[in-house]
Amino acid sequence: MIEYKKLSNNFQYIEVKNSKAKAKIALQGAHIFEYTRSDEEPILWISEASNFKYGESIRGGIPICWPWFGLAKDKNLPQHGFVRIFIWEFHNTSEIDKNTTEIILKLKHSKQSLKLWSYKFELELKILISDNLTLMLKTKNLNDKPFTITQALHSYFNISHISEVSIKGFDKKPYLDALTMKQKKQNGDIIFNKEVDRVYQEVNDEISLKDKNRVISIKNIGSSSVVVWNPWIDKCKRMSAMNDDSYKTMVCIETANAFDDKRVLKPNQSHTLEAVIF
Ligand code: BG6
Repeated sequence: MIEYKKLSNNFQYIEVKNSKAKAKIALQGAHIFEYTRSDEEPILWISEASNFKYGESIRGGIPICWPWFGLAKDKNLPQHGFVRIFIWEFHNTSEIDKNTTEIILKLKHSKQSLKLWSYKFELELKILISDNLTLMLKTKNLNDKPFTITQALHSYFNISHISEVSIKGFDKKPYLDALTMKQKKQNGDIIFNKEVDRVYQEVNDEISLKDKNRVISIKNIGSSSVVVWNPWIDKCKRMSAMNDDSYKTMVCIETANAFDDKRVLKPNQSHTLEAVIF
């Protein structure tokens, strides 16, 4: 089942249900904000304080950070790029079989985007909803000169409690600690007892998020960098659209091309960043 829905403020999204899972995807930002497998707790975290309105990114789900990840050089430009608050086009929706639904959204450069970033582009996000969730974000350069992007599928995962989780797949990996801007090396699994904001590099193994009663796995393609973020107590209080205790039930593991994993695309060249969550 695929249904087109609208909130009273005109905020549009589609709701998908098949025999394996259900999902909700907003037109703003091509933003998936629910993915729940049959008889399971939601996989994606969504803030109870999040607004669903145009011009504000949804806090939770999987925001798309593009064409830059993090702060822009120009401080007047928004953090994490602009496409998470742009309206995408539902290009195609199809029920492949009773277990799998495919949704394709597209966004092209516009007068509005060229004011923020002076390049012509085409973005396509393909989402496959089944007992796995797959996101494929394809960037195509439509200029006659190259451009450079950094980007992320900024996944917020729903967890039982931050003290219960550990993340495997990063042992011995170098990372940039965004809190000190120092290079460090991971030793063992990641656990959380303070603010964590890191760009892991040279990541090519499967990642697993181990929680009390389940394990969520993530496989990344077209990426060698992964951002791991939990704001912890103080930053959580300062975050927009988050409650003071939100940090307890979420962790971000973001499939990225960030920091030195930036990508340069020549004219007509494409690059696909893909995450499979299972
Ligand atoms: C993470 C960054 O990816 O996104 C954090 O590493 C940042 O530093 C977080 O706070 C949320 O960003 P935003 O722009 O959605 O509030």
